[in-house]
Amino acid sequence: MSPVSRTLVLAGCTLELTTKRTPTRPVIAGNWKMNGDAAAIAGARRLAVQLAASPPRARVALCPPTSLIHRLAQAVAGTPLLVGGQDCRAEAQGAFTGDESAEMLLDAGARMVILGHSERRTLHGEDDALVAAKVLGALRAGLEPIICVGETLDQRRTGRAIEVVRAQIRVSLPPELKGNAFCVAYEPVWAIGSGLIPTLDDIETIHGVIRADLLDMFGAAGAEVAILYGGSVKPSNAAQILGGREVGGVLVGGASLDSETFMEIIAAA
Ligand code: PGA
Repeated sequence: MSPVSRTLVLAGCTLELTTKRTPTRPVIAGNWKMNGDAAAIAGARRLAVQLAASPPRARVALCPPTSLIHRLAQAVAGTPLLVGGQDCRAEAQGAFTGDESAEMLLDAGARMVILGHSERRTLHGEDDALVAAKVLGALRAGLEPIICVGETLDQRRTGRAIEVVRAQIRVSLPPELKGNAFCVAYEPVWAIGSGLIPTLDDIETIHGVIRADLLDMFGAAGAEVAILYGGSVKPSNAAQILGGREVGGVLVGGASLDSETFMEIIAAA
């Protein structure tokens, strides 16, 4: 499809948005959060075997709690299913009780890591500068970061969604990302686990703004970055969301816990 541009004018700044391109394979990533057990690992193994038999168009990852990374990685070894972490500390090692470095996640079998998830930002007080430091840790270890941004309900209601997301992008994504594989996930905080989702138009607008910032920050390489949508993605809405302009995948919480449900979302990509 040849790109067709449309212009978006925002607070004195004009952005050229292009229609949906598929610069990279879509990414379907599951975030188990603090859930997962032997049954979930067995389900993931069945899913991985299915993906191996019939390779999907998308790159598919599951991000279990840290304690399950090694088991999951062993269960899906040799299949296309990637394993990711949900967070890491910025430093490589040291006196940081209870924390895990990106190198440790890699050693356990992770290849990706979610950083700056709103639950980390809210429950652990993580700010954009800390997220950027963690991104550098992930790059140092060779993990592909999935960097999350998104506005709260109050910020959306008061018309600040674009401004908030752009500010998060500017600080959470360090310049060192240039030339490295990474994803951005737009996850409106109010859509996570709530069953509510923005309109497709709102998703496309924010994704277009993120794309424009990525191009500005990383040049042509910014066109290759998959911008994922996350927040109440289900089999019933996945195809529509994935068909959106500049939507390069989805980050799935609750619906990734059941392997059959997650497979339906993968099939929609
Ligand atoms: P949800 O979570 O799909 O359960 O809304 C998404 C996320 O937090 O990444």
